[in-house]
Amino acid sequence: MLAIVRQTASLLRSGRGNGSVKRKLVMVMENFEFVSPTHFVFGKDAELQVGTKLAERGARKVLLHFGGKSALASGLIDRVKESLEAQGIEHVTLGGVRPNPEITLVREGVALCKQHEVDWVLAVGGGSVVDSAKAIAVGARYEGDVWDFFESKRLTNDVLPIAVVLTIPAAGSEASKNTVVSNDALQMKTGYANNAQRPKLAFMNPELTFTLPPFQTAAGCTDMFCHLLERFFDDVGAVPVTDNLCLSLMKTVRAEAPRVLADPDNYDARANVMWAGMLCHQGLAGVGRHEDWATHGLEHELSALYPEITHGAGLAVMFPAWMEFVYDANPARFAYYGREVFGLAPTGDAASDALSAIDETRSFFASLGMPTTLDELGVEEADIDKLIPTLKENKGEPFGSFKKLSMDDAKAIYRIAFASGDE
Ligand code: NZQ
Ligand code: ZN
Repeated sequence: MLAIVRQTASLLRSGRGNGSVKRKLVMVMENFEFVSPTHFVFGKDAELQVGTKLAERGARKVLLHFGGKSALASGLIDRVKESLEAQGIEHVTLGGVRPNPEITLVREGVALCKQHEVDWVLAVGGGSVVDSAKAIAVGARYEGDVWDFFESKRLTNDVLPIAVVLTIPAAGSEASKNTVVSNDALQMKTGYANNAQRPKLAFMNPELTFTLPPFQTAAGCTDMFCHLLERFFDDVGAVPVTDNLCLSLMKTVRAEAPRVLADPDNYDARANVMWAGMLCHQGLAGVGRHEDWATHGLEHELSALYPEITHGAGLAVMFPAWMEFVYDANPARFAYYGREVFGLAPTGDAASDALSAIDETRSFFASLGMPTTLDELGVEEADIDKLIPTLKENKGEPFGSFKKLSMDDAKAIYRIAFASGDE
């Protein structure tokens, strides 16, 4: 199977467009700004402190925002409401956030905030709920349509403060500056980054994640690992302080993910995964680097077209495919990753070591129960042409950093993601 993948990748690379542009290797730590305003309350019963911590910050009326059913079924929403009521904090509720959250519910949330003069948005759920809450918080003090921010990327500081009770470690949205929202009418899924929407409070109780289905646990671990890959592979040379943090987190996720899957009620493993998920994406693991984010762009187009695709599962397919296409821009970087994270012995041939590191990455995701091909996700080859226009709109051309990619390169990477499963 792998021989065929390699052959396909090599053929696709040989027909590349801007992919052949020479990389510029910058050997210094890049300038950066890093903002991290989140107050974390981590551990057993963390969610019981929601009311007191919000009261300390002067909250009077919150929009309590949640997902489909898990937080209601577990009694978490009731516990959070009690905690708010004990402090005399009023709440307006808005449930029903779907995975890959959609702008229509965001608009409903914005209207509720305006109507009820809400002063905090409280998300109870995973990345989808938190992202929906962030978008609501951005739109709540804006006269126009909140989607304007996703289109224009305009920054604003006029954002309602956000608190989060996290129920799935994955997206890292509990501390990140990003929100990603779908607009089904436009068939787009688009990100918006703004430090002003980083949550001010994050309540993280690992016990709340015991109820996660194995697939969601695995997809979450895959997503957080990929947040590190996006940062580790770019066109900047070594930044040891950042790189070592990244590698250490990769090793942690690699070790803890099988532990939580084998023993879902293991508090210690769940706690390590939960805190790792935050560290993987709040930004520290990428400072001083340009970061890449091509693969997240490629995945977001898939979950825009098919909202039932889980983000982490899409990444499990797309990351090894991207790696196959780009590794020759800097095989030594891949060899280094393989040595550090998977303990691969160097062979003296960086390209061969790089390919082994890619094999290990694909096998790691597969060992968690993640798919390896786009067929498994229900995507068809004919879909590739549908993904490209919105990819170009979202990412521009060329995109990525480790290797600058054209839209033809993107098509080639999608094709590799189909080929990965050939026998
Ligand atoms: O809706 P409910 O019933 O709660 O079910 C959810 C959902 O079906 C379920 N779930 C969550 N906590 C649970 C639980 N089930 C049982 N027990 C619990 N404790 O899990 C499913 C997935 O939830 P979701 O919030 O969609 O997962 P995730 O945290 O992976 O978020 C994915 C979204 O985040 C975006 C993704 O693109 C995707 O839209 N991302 C956001 C980022 C950011 N804001 O910084 C960065 C990421 O790269 C990512 O793009
Ligand atoms: Zn992600």
